[in-house]
Amino acid sequence: MSDYKIKKLISGDEIQIRAKEMGRKIAGDFEGRPIHVVVVQLGAWMFGADLIKNIPTNQLTLDSIQLSSYKGDTESCGLVTVVRDLVRRVKGQDVLVVEDIVDTGRTISELQKNLKRRGAASVQVATMLNKQDGREIDFEPDYVGFEIQDCFVIGYGLDYQERFRNLPYVAEMVFC
Ligand code: IMP
Repeated sequence: MSDYKIKKLISGDEIQIRAKEMGRKIAGDFEGRPIHVVVVQLGAWMFGADLIKNIPTNQLTLDSIQLSSYKGDTESCGLVTVVRDLVRRVKGQDVLVVEDIVDTGRTISELQKNLKRRGAASVQVATMLNKQDGREIDFEPDYVGFEIQDCFVIGYGLDYQERFRNLPYVAEMVFC
């Protein structure tokens, strides 16, 4: 691995405060209807845990899917594959997908199409981070934690070559 520096961008406390706000907003928007949450693994598991704790409803069900679009580097390979599939059916469900970050938009728009093909009644997206400048596909998440600049970030679930997912904050990884 080449030399790098880690620059802290968003603290764990800030993320948890934002997750509370987002959770309340989501609960209000769903107005008591059942919410079927699909957490995108591995990047969104930490934020997903924060978010679902803060959606005050007893109508929430949970599943996860593992996708791959990055091949251990800082660039998306453009090909989105399902590494581990859902366990539950989404047919007829109002689905809330929880993502770690929306960058080019390819991964999430492929997943949205995939869930609609399986018969989901609606698919909304909540993302911890939104990298608007990296966008290559026309896609707008419904709920955004934080807007960030076009830089490579790690921590709070996000990895570089499978490392740094355990950092309790989001940081920019600066290569020297
Ligand atoms: P997209 O398809 O380009 O929108 O990328 C989505 C996926 O790529 C995310 O779910 C992340 O797993 C990964 N990704 C995008 N940007 C970053 C980054 O800055 N750091 C780590 N992973 C990233």
